Amino acid sequence: MYTHRPQGRAAGRAALAALAALALAAQACSEETVAPAPGPTPPGIPYAGPGSLSAASGKGSFRLGAASAATQIEDRNPATDWYVFTLPEDEGGLGKGAAFVGDAARGYTKAIEDVALLREMGLDSYRFSVEWARIEPRRDAVDEDALAHYDRLLDALVEAGIRPVITLHHFSNPVWIDDPRHTDCAPGPTDENLCGFGHPEGGPLVIEELAEHAALLAERFGDRVDDWGTLNEPFNYLLAAYGAGTFPPGKATLFGDLLGDFVPVLRDYLLAHGAAYRAIKAADRGDADGDGEAADVGLSLSAADWVAARDHQPSDDPEDVGARDRMAYVYNHLVVDTVLGGQLDSDLDGAPDLELPGVAGTLDWLGVQYYFRAGVTGKLGGIVPVLALTPCVNGLDFGACLAPVDPTFCVPAMRYEHHAPGLYNVLTDLGERYPALPLVVTESGIATEVGARRAEVIVRALEQIERARALGVDVRGYYHWSLYDNFEWAEGFAPRFGLYTVDYGTYERSPTLGAEVLGEIARGRELTGALRAAHGGDRPMTPEATAPEGLERCLGN
Ligand code: FCB
Repeated sequence: MYTHRPQGRAAGRAALAALAALALAAQACSEETVAPAPGPTPPGIPYAGPGSLSAASGKGSFRLGAASAATQIEDRNPATDWYVFTLPEDEGGLGKGAAFVGDAARGYTKAIEDVALLREMGLDSYRFSVEWARIEPRRDAVDEDALAHYDRLLDALVEAGIRPVITLHHFSNPVWIDDPRHTDCAPGPTDENLCGFGHPEGGPLVIEELAEHAALLAERFGDRVDDWGTLNEPFNYLLAAYGAGTFPPGKATLFGDLLGDFVPVLRDYLLAHGAAYRAIKAADRGDADGDGEAADVGLSLSAADWVAARDHQPSDDPEDVGARDRMAYVYNHLVVDTVLGGQLDSDLDGAPDLELPGVAGTLDWLGVQYYFRAGVTGKLGGIVPVLALTPCVNGLDFGACLAPVDPTFCVPAMRYEHHAPGLYNVLTDLGERYPALPLVVTESGIATEVGARRAEVIVRALEQIERARALGVDVRGYYHWSLYDNFEWAEGFAPRFGLYTVDYGTYERSPTLGAEVLGEIARGRELTGALRAAHGGDRPMTPEATAPEGLERCLGN
């Protein structure tokens, strides 16, 4: 059943005006780094080399890498669902989201030269996704040129000594999987539209197709690739694509029949994970890292630091604590519980009840992705009735939104708070719940235009990882999100997550202070005391350079 964890500290709503004023004053010197921490220089944190993500031999190893996803970076691709979803209506698309994905960051044509960015920083691994819609733009029609493209990218990575980690499914589909223009799918599944996960006839076909795609990639790339991630942030993705409808295919079930409409989608998605896991294991024959396993297969989870809240204050009211625990359970735990145990809690009551054939034990490692801390309230029964809770997400405020621990922790572009110790909280929680499962931070980062803030987020994340490792939590690496600025899904191009900034006029990439700092750490295999003193700790961060209303965006206004 649900478990309770003590809450962290947070400033009260009453202090907000003062905090906002402080944030504004600090913005005057927004391009400067915060002053070094007073007191003695903290000790350096040395890193062993990269190792296996799943074998016992990989314990104690550590990867320093960067991550990206195909749709977010690659040049225009009319075969993806994001293309038709965001293409303006007068051009025949649905005009959804903040911007048309278009050429994203031209990461397809520049793929090989972009390897130099990883090399310059001395990173030892790159996590990226292969675009399914490029490989299979039409059902069962494989594009060999696209396979050859990723082949060349893999060769370039291997030659540079950079371990590839391939994500199979990162928030995008070929249009024919679930056409966002025809979500009612009236005629039933056809080759042009399989009707997507959760559809009674189409769901099983989609699962089969994803497994075939996985087998093809493992067969072609397995000699150079050991590390595979099947799914990226399953719960988050499904919430956006099938819950709120803000991602393609744009189906919104969250406020309707959650159990009847949303849970079948989740069931199919996790069945697809199991099928893909088995397909990769069967088809991958090369043991590139020599750990005795041809393929180390995991998935990446979005884990947030949920805090019980009421009326904009941290709360210890049992209703809110219960709501917080249910939120942590469905968001942070449900997917992993299901994949390890093979049974889904289909009525979300805290106990598994539905057998998912072929799913039990299909997880060699768990990717953890941490971006934010947020409040959850149980007051008034909640906007998610089945779970009787209301979280503070996307600026929607029904009393669950909390003031950031410090105003500089607000990430205005994303309307949430990035609180570094939240990473420690989720890692220790997951380490305790799944002690035998190796963890790796496959994403963490910040949307900011201030290089010093990115440097701070990197150094502080590594400090929090170290705290967790010191307790024995088996964390095997850190991948910064992202290698360079890109298409941030429904948010468009405004949030900038890159170690390298992208000039969207010329597509030139330029290093931020984040790239310099991560590079220094990776090349020296140490987070030095000097870097910690300059960027680490729990002091306020360098303020964001943008709008004064920034802080307000984290308060649900
Ligand atoms: C994660 C996604 C990734 C990126 C970051 C900012 O949820 O996995 O693609 O959008 O957020």
